[in-house]
Amino acid sequence: MIRLHNVSKTYHLKGSRDGAPPGVIEALKNVDLHVPQGQIHGVIGLSGAGKSTLIRCVNLLERPTAGSVFVDGQELTGLSGGALNQARHRIGMIFQHFNLLTNRCVFDNVALPLELMGMKRAAIRERVAPLLELVGLADKADQYPARLSGGQKQRVAIARALASRPRVLLCDEATSALDPQTTGSILALLRDINRKLGLTILLITHEMEVVKSICHRVSLISDGELVEEADVGDFFTAPRTRLGREFLNDFLQLEPPRALIERLEAAPGEHTHPVVRLAFSGDAVSTPLISRLARECGVDVSILQAKVESIQERTLGLMIAELIGTSGETARAVDYLETHDLHVEVLGHVQRDD
Ligand SMILES: Nc1ncnc2c1ncn2[C@@H]1O[C@H](COP(=O)(O)OP(=O)(O)OP(=O)(O)O)[C@@H](O)[C@H]1O
Ligand SMILES: [Mg+2]
Repeated sequence: MIRLHNVSKTYHLKGSRDGAPPGVIEALKNVDLHVPQGQIHGVIGLSGAGKSTLIRCVNLLERPTAGSVFVDGQELTGLSGGALNQARHRIGMIFQHFNLLTNRCVFDNVALPLELMGMKRAAIRERVAPLLELVGLADKADQYPARLSGGQKQRVAIARALASRPRVLLCDEATSALDPQTTGSILALLRDINRKLGLTILLITHEMEVVKSICHRVSLISDGELVEEADVGDFFTAPRTRLGREFLNDFLQLEPPRALIERLEAAPGEHTHPVVRLAFSGDAVSTPLISRLARECGVDVSILQAKVESIQERTLGLMIAELIGTSGETARAVDYLETHDLHVEVLGHVQRDD
């Protein structure tokens, strides 16, 4: 439904900036992205990574310097003027700060894109009323934005974005200005819209919570490049890049105790034991694997941290543990865990005092 092929975006500035060649910022570098119909795809990255530039290139609010953009089978980068405007009706967008018109009531904000399309008043009324119903604001049609909470304003923006019956919804940090509870209700609404209308959603965020709660798939952007892409369950189980692991560890707060980190050695020694990070899902969550591990491999397991997360419909168990035994026993224990579909990462080795 959305396809970016080798998209780059370079900004030319008048002044020069540290690090980059004078006056040139490569905000996107050779980005390839495919979001199939009906999917919710998240792009996560640090501030300045190029997230907004990426999403604005999808509807050509920014025109890519190179590469092509396809939405719903049509190449937008080949269009301009009226044809591009027409194609944009199939793409809705919502923003961090809602971008509502303060001098228009809720109804008229949602009606605006339809007025611009030249739709008749009666047809507009028929289109807007069910949208306000959908976003839970049927009783607020006559209110002005100043009287609404942040969550309500974003609901108006969502209804407005859906007014032209788009096939795709772009969300630029749509919940970043909202408190956690309101964020939850807006994400639930987006999930609901995705299911009910089969709408394809591309969202960008710097919050793992957003990725965890509604995305099917996630890409990581760093310095204008997509550096990792995965199904969300796989990403939370085992991110492949260092940046991915940093995002995940920050989010889960799952690190060995500081005192132990300081004692971690990269290579195994004669009297050291491995410290491992285990991630498991599916059947492994409800199987008593740790006690079996102790019995079958003869190791002791010291659990340093553990938590269970729900990601989409999957339950994911995460644990940091020290495996205590001879090097043969601990190697066998790692094998045992891997053959039982656990993801095992050896964080380092620690010297035992006893
Ligand atoms: N219109 C512009 N002119 C010049 N440089 C720009 C422009 N827009 C973005 N940039 C630069 O491009 C890079 C990527 O910016 P972008 O806004 O896409 O990042 P972002 O990931 O959305 O960041 P944030 O999380 O802070 O919103 C930054 O270095 C930014 O300064
Ligand atoms: Mg941004």
